[in-house]
Amino acid sequence: MTAPSAAAPAFAPSHPDSRLAADWLFLHAQVPPAKWPALPSFGAAASWLGMHASLRKGQGELEQLSRDYLAQRLDWRDYRQRLLQVAALHYSHLHGHHRNEDVHAFPRLRQLQPRLARGFELLDADHGHIEQQIRRIQDLLADLRQRPDNAPDAALAARLDDALRDGSRWLYLHLMDEEDLVIPVLALESEPWRANTASPLI
Ligand SMILES: [Fe+2]
Ligand SMILES: [Fe+2]
Repeated sequence: MTAPSAAAPAFAPSHPDSRLAADWLFLHAQVPPAKWPALPSFGAAASWLGMHASLRKGQGELEQLSRDYLAQRLDWRDYRQRLLQVAALHYSHLHGHHRNEDVHAFPRLRQLQPRLARGFELLDADHGHIEQQIRRIQDLLADLRQRPDNAPDAALAARLDDALRDGSRWLYLHLMDEEDLVIPVLALESEPWRANTASPLI
């Protein structure tokens, strides 16, 4: 008779491009990604997922505006005005979310799950990289703001599209890896955490 294997079960990340080590996913045994849609609506984990959904939506709107202009489905005036408006709201939202994670949420999550410390180092590094990308995009947006409504600049629109695509690739990867690391911790710990702190979670 074969003895049962003593090896710990391996848990798969929620997406194929994950940069997380398999042994950082041990909490997926209790809170696998398949169960996230059923998490309590107003709990910290569901609220975190909702925040990320709104960030994906904002980034997606910017990508769509850029694609529509390049495909000549949008004229320069509408493209310029709408891109500047959506970008101002979206990047303010994204910056505020990352700042809250850096200052409040990640330090506390690290305390709750010291085994995930290296995962949080990866997410911290992402925040730095994404901030650099946002600065590049903000510089291009400042150029766009200077352009008149009646003077299309195809080269500037192409540079912005390139920067937005690069930003999307990193942002979506970051959000997915962060969810794989953070959502199970929040789902398991949010109630005692909330009871013992005055600081906002998200
Ligand atoms: Fe983050
Ligand atoms: Fe986040």
